[in-house]
Amino acid sequence: MSHNQKESSKAVKLGIGTNKVGGHNLFEGLKDEDGFDIVREALDSQVQMIDTAYMYGLGRSEEIIGEVIKNYSRSSFKIATKAAQDPDNDLKINNTPTFLKKAVDDALARLQTDYIDIFYIHFPDENTPKDEAVAALNDLKKSGKIRAVGVSNFSLEQIKEANKNGQVDYVEDAYSLVHREAENKLWPYLQENHIGFVPYFPLASGLLTGKYSLADADKFDQFTKEQFETIVSALKLVEKIAENHNASISQTILAWYIANPSISAVIPGARNASQVTNNVTTLNIDLTETEYQQIDTAFENF
Ligand SMILES: NC(=O)c1ccc[n+]([C@@H]2O[C@H](COP(=O)([O-])OP(=O)(O)OC[C@H]3O[C@@H](n4cnc5c(N)ncnc54)[C@H](OP(=O)(O)O)[C@@H]3O)[C@@H](O)[C@H]2O)c1
Repeated sequence: MSHNQKESSKAVKLGIGTNKVGGHNLFEGLKDEDGFDIVREALDSQVQMIDTAYMYGLGRSEEIIGEVIKNYSRSSFKIATKAAQDPDNDLKINNTPTFLKKAVDDALARLQTDYIDIFYIHFPDENTPKDEAVAALNDLKKSGKIRAVGVSNFSLEQIKEANKNGQVDYVEDAYSLVHREAENKLWPYLQENHIGFVPYFPLASGLLTGKYSLADADKFDQFTKEQFETIVSALKLVEKIAENHNASISQTILAWYIANPSISAVIPGARNASQVTNNVTTLNIDLTETEYQQIDTAFENF
């Protein structure tokens, strides 16, 4: 990624999500050792970006990443992190310039690095004008502490306000083949304004790995029974396409995102290092145009 993020948003395609690296406050039963292994495995493979946040373990995820990256060449991967939850005020969302500037310094210290490749405002607060929050991050970009400015979980209107002066480089928001609202809601504006898009929940929290069956419908209550049946049958089609590439369903789904020019980087989460190993294999898959379209159509109602 060069300094001009808007020109190079396609440079990174595969990253990892690390909410299960040290994210003890979000998930039960996580072990720090698994977190260290996940990050090491990612950097030993071809993963080019680590996506983290203060909120994942209230700094613990960033600390684990910081310990591991000391042993790797910093220029060989990107780090994206986020903040907004104020540790000095019951984690209330705070986007004030003073808070954001301190949050970047704290993240740099935990990550034991000199710069952060993308720093996202994790959630919008109620009061800070969005363009002022982003301007504070733009100052840090000029000083070299961060290399790109991001916002996450912002509505289109909030993104427009934040980008009043053209200072937003990336948007991170929920998106997957079973949650496609961003395509119509956000992508036209982002593309017009050369803002990169990084989807979170790309595997729909594991659903798109194909490891669940119709019997698991009640674990995914955001979908109606009919929608869940459609997903399970769409995954059967993906499985057939996967066989053409000697690949798994999740690898094929990740390959679809990688082939999608509207997506800047794919950051599947992992619970252990073997899931990382498995997901990295997606880089060997080159979907044909027909296969890409078949998957697109199979999930067109989402
Ligand atoms: N900006 C935001 O507000 C925001 C919000 C959420 C997430 N994020 C970021 O986005 C990243 C991705 O989201 P996510 O991790 O929540 O969801 P995800 O990528 O959709 O799903 C990841 C989960 O799927 C399962 N999985 C992954 N690879 C697998 C494989 N090869 N085989 C079987 N199961 C596999 C694992 O869970 P199990 O083993 O438990 O099934 C893993 O934790 C996060 O890690 C985080 O960095 C950002």
